[in-house]
Amino acid sequence: MRVAALLHTCIGEPRPQCHSSRHSCTRRPSSAGRNFPNILAHATPEVPIPTPHTGVAVIGAGILGTRHARVYDELTDARLVAVVDHDTARAASVAEPRKARAFGSTAEMLAAVGPAGTGEVTAVSVATPDHAHLEPVAACLRAGVDVFVEKPLAMALDEAKEMIALARVKSRVLMVNYSQRWLAEHRRIEALLTEGSLGTPAFVESHRWDAAWVPERMIGSWSDKTTPIHFMSSHDIDLIIHWLRDRVETVTAVAHYGALDAERSLPGRVDGYIATLRFSGGTVASLHSSWILPDTFPLAADSYLEVLGASGAIFLGGSTRELKLYTPGHSEKITFAGPATATEVNGRIEGAFTDSVRDFLGAVRTRELDRAASAARTLHVVEVQDAIMRAAASGEVIRIGVSGTP
Ligand SMILES: NC(=O)c1ccc[n+]([C@@H]2O[C@H](COP(=O)([O-])OP(=O)(O)OC[C@H]3O[C@@H](n4cnc5c(N)ncnc54)[C@H](O)[C@@H]3O)[C@@H](O)[C@H]2O)c1
Repeated sequence: MRVAALLHTCIGEPRPQCHSSRHSCTRRPSSAGRNFPNILAHATPEVPIPTPHTGVAVIGAGILGTRHARVYDELTDARLVAVVDHDTARAASVAEPRKARAFGSTAEMLAAVGPAGTGEVTAVSVATPDHAHLEPVAACLRAGVDVFVEKPLAMALDEAKEMIALARVKSRVLMVNYSQRWLAEHRRIEALLTEGSLGTPAFVESHRWDAAWVPERMIGSWSDKTTPIHFMSSHDIDLIIHWLRDRVETVTAVAHYGALDAERSLPGRVDGYIATLRFSGGTVASLHSSWILPDTFPLAADSYLEVLGASGAIFLGGSTRELKLYTPGHSEKITFAGPATATEVNGRIEGAFTDSVRDFLGAVRTRELDRAASAARTLHVVEVQDAIMRAAASGEVIRIGVSGTP
């Protein structure tokens, strides 16, 4: 079992109390499990346990599709069978080193190795651009294949509902790669909120910044068909809804234009948004989401998050992974140092992304159609994104109804 490495410091104390991987400066080591027999001592590791393999195809062989392909290739309970991309040379460059087959379209792949072909592929990852998820997702669901789709689920609410309805009719798994739920620091915040350590959450603030070269060059061919709210803030909207276990009632938003146009010759491209979300329980969340940072900024992206509750507060730096926690009678600074989203560990990709893929494979194996990151259970993220777009376009307060679930 992997344990994320942590560095703890008591804020306000002259010297750090501890720098171990598991101990908090104010907590004793857990005694959980003390009365249980050591079953591991009797295990027979030399007897291999048979693992069912899920045959997988990856659709879209760009930056993220390459990562999906690599993770499936490295996991012992999956077998990468095929890679699909309109750019067949790109599909081949990802497939061939991993002894998988390359295809130029989803239809060809399904006919050859899907349920109607050899039957080797029973699940897919879809990592096509944000606006191009519906066609491959729908084709795979219709063919009886389980689907793991990159965020955002869709750019349009009706497309998201169409996919969810199809998955339900075909009894297939349809999950969204909300990998950030699995990040150690985010799991810590989730636990703190679930325990009620901050009291009732009053304010959440999320900042998500990308460098301007991301819309200009990294996704330059399709950045005009997405927005920072979809490409970057899908994770934050999902995290906040998931942590608060609440629904957004009203949304206001403003968009800014002109910076990318003036500096990068990207006419009409939105620079970013500021949106305010009011949850039904009273929490107010504000989102800043923009992609205009200059080339001198050392990272492709960075983020910042804060949660202020009635009796406590959390501040988290995205790239520093430094979490500051203040609750009544206690303050703590934790720097997370274990695998982040996709960290190379002993030649393999580990971290939140791999954990999210494992979660999908688990749902496929157990036929759990309703896992927490299923498209049906996360449709509210798309509803909020849709409301932000409508609020920014109209200048009006948008009220989200409760009848959104298809
Ligand atoms: N989970 C995360 O943290 C995360 C991070 C970055 C990007 N993403 C998402 O992953 C997706 C892919 O992003 P990317 O940066 O890899 O994009 P990319 O442009 O690098 O790759 C997309 C690939 O899809 C191919 N393609 C387009 N339409 C296709 C179709 N219908 N069938 C087959 N191939 C097709 C393109 O030729 C291209 O090779 C996007 O939805 C993006 O938002 C997720």
